[in-house]
Amino acid sequence: MKNIILLGPPGAGKGTQADLICDLYNIPKISTGDMLREAVASGSDFGKKVSNILDTGGLVSDEIIGSLIKDRLAQPDCENGSLFDGVPRTLGQANELKNMGVNFTHVVEIHVDDEVIVNRMSGRRVHPGSGRNYHVDFNPPKSEGVDDDTGEPLIQREDDKPETVLKRLNVYHEQTKPLSDFYTKQSEDTDLIYINVDGSKSVDEVFRSISSKF
Ligand code: AP5
Repeated sequence: MKNIILLGPPGAGKGTQADLICDLYNIPKISTGDMLREAVASGSDFGKKVSNILDTGGLVSDEIIGSLIKDRLAQPDCENGSLFDGVPRTLGQANELKNMGVNFTHVVEIHVDDEVIVNRMSGRRVHPGSGRNYHVDFNPPKSEGVDDDTGEPLIQREDDKPETVLKRLNVYHEQTKPLSDFYTKQSEDTDLIYINVDGSKSVDEVFRSISSKF
């Protein structure tokens, strides 16, 4: 049973690596970012409530995230483990997951410098239906502008504008980075395995580096 957290700044490659790891272990990806973007796209009242927070690079409240995760973990496909992509993102969320009884086996922290990230985000393209990520230079789709699997058009995320990326990086350093210490300490006292990887390498190299340490 594997319960894996992917930690790292926006644009570190969490979503990209999450898809590869989930295929390898046949476990579902729990991405609160994807869940929130789906809610926004659906036009629901909940989506309208969180839309501005996403577009401006802030964090949705711990209470909302706690309830999204609780509902998702109740689904049967999570019985044999899950991959948590971009969640928890605050110490409050980490404690909430602990209280829910989630027993994490691995934390993978992907390290990438801020300057590299700002560059990456401007080239990111996303398939809105599945959350599949591409990059115009580093990870291009087979045909320009369309998703490999469905042939549907790719979009640029609203929160990938350079000024919003800088805000997201600030939020990451202030509110999410403390989780590195939180889980490193936990790994010293428990069976939790903490894995650090250099995310500035190619997608394949990063994946090899992660999978060799599982
Ligand atoms: P979320 O969707 O989780 O965004 P994020 O954490 O900011 O991460 P990103 O999706 O931007 O990047 P990534 O690390 O997945 O990188 P990717 O693989 O795409 O959250 C969005 C928003 O939702 C938040 O700002 C917040 O408002 C809200 N939210 C979500 N979860 C929340 C929570 N728990 N609590 C509160 N609020 C929450 O890669 C980026 C680009 O680089 C792509 O183009 C990719 O193709 C390319 N790339 C990937 N790897 C490489 C590589 N090795 N080399 C070159 N290019 C690469």
